[in-house]
Amino acid sequence: MSYLRNNIAEMAAYVPGFQPPDEAEWIKLNTNENPYPPSPQVIEAIKAATGDDLRKYPDAPSLAGREAAAELYGYPVDWVIMANGSDELLNNLIRACVGEGEEVAYLQPSYSYYSTLAAVQGARIKTFALTESGEIKGFPERYTGKLFFLTNPNAPFGLRWGTEEVAVLADQCDGLLVVDEAYADFAVGNCLQLVRQKPNVVVTRTLSKSYSLAGMRLGLAIARPEIIAALDKIRDHYNLDRLAQTAVAAALIDHDYWRDCIERICATREWFSAELAKLGYSVIPSSANYVFASPSDRNGKRVYDALYQRKILVRYFSDPVLRHGLRISIGTRAEMEKTLQALSEIG
Ligand SMILES: Cc1ncc(COP(=O)(O)O)c(C=O)c1O
Repeated sequence: MSYLRNNIAEMAAYVPGFQPPDEAEWIKLNTNENPYPPSPQVIEAIKAATGDDLRKYPDAPSLAGREAAAELYGYPVDWVIMANGSDELLNNLIRACVGEGEEVAYLQPSYSYYSTLAAVQGARIKTFALTESGEIKGFPERYTGKLFFLTNPNAPFGLRWGTEEVAVLADQCDGLLVVDEAYADFAVGNCLQLVRQKPNVVVTRTLSKSYSLAGMRLGLAIARPEIIAALDKIRDHYNLDRLAQTAVAAALIDHDYWRDCIERICATREWFSAELAKLGYSVIPSSANYVFASPSDRNGKRVYDALYQRKILVRYFSDPVLRHGLRISIGTRAEMEKTLQALSEIG
């Protein structure tokens, strides 16, 4: 007899982007990390919090971080919840809303973790095909599943739907529409206002990308208080440790540093995309901190392997709808110059 639930025994594990042990020797453009360090104010705050107090439990409701987020996004504090990475929120949203055998939907392609979460929950999965021009194939007039994850900007294409388009999708959904805005800070516009306007919209955010804090594991959601209260019931009660709570409260108030990093990354993205096109790549216009680009022979693996040989790590997906291209995170200007040089040699 197996001790495991059938769906756990049968499911495949999520495969995160590779973190090479000799990290310093690589140009690492495979997990959409920010190439710039966290704000100096965040580092100072973490150092100051590293002391005797670590023997005590953290503040269970993570109030300081929630207050900072509430102020920044213009919502009352009971519309905000903090999490140990936005992955934790995606997980708890599906746990809170989708029972075993009930349906959850997402686009194909999009963030591959959704399928892992659905498999753990024993949920039924419905996918809608997404084209490289942003068309969602076959989305019904009324979608009756319990939850629809929409990554906006999309991963890995980097496409973004405008707020009006997302509002229409929200109206078409009977269940919850979770707008995963992990990359929204790199885009023009976001869907935060929809949380107030549409009862079924939840927006999730992360500090892993635009705030350079992937290593701290910090995410948050904005939703109506009744949804936040449900998520609050099922989270680990001390989900954010003391250092993470210190970091989030400091990060969300250092607007100048955050804006400066984003501007540099977006400028590099635009320049890099144009240079890639000159090398004959087709590049999907991106609203995120990565681009999805395909070489003219549409053989993503060939280019991935050749870059790997040169210690440049990008993301290749073997999925039939993605294997013609590569997702390349935007690093510093110097890293992207080296990457272009390598790509022009590889041909
Ligand atoms: C679309 C999307 N959502 C969520 C996440 C998870 O972010 P976090 O680091 O906050 O768990 C990622 C991470 O790469 C992502 O690409």
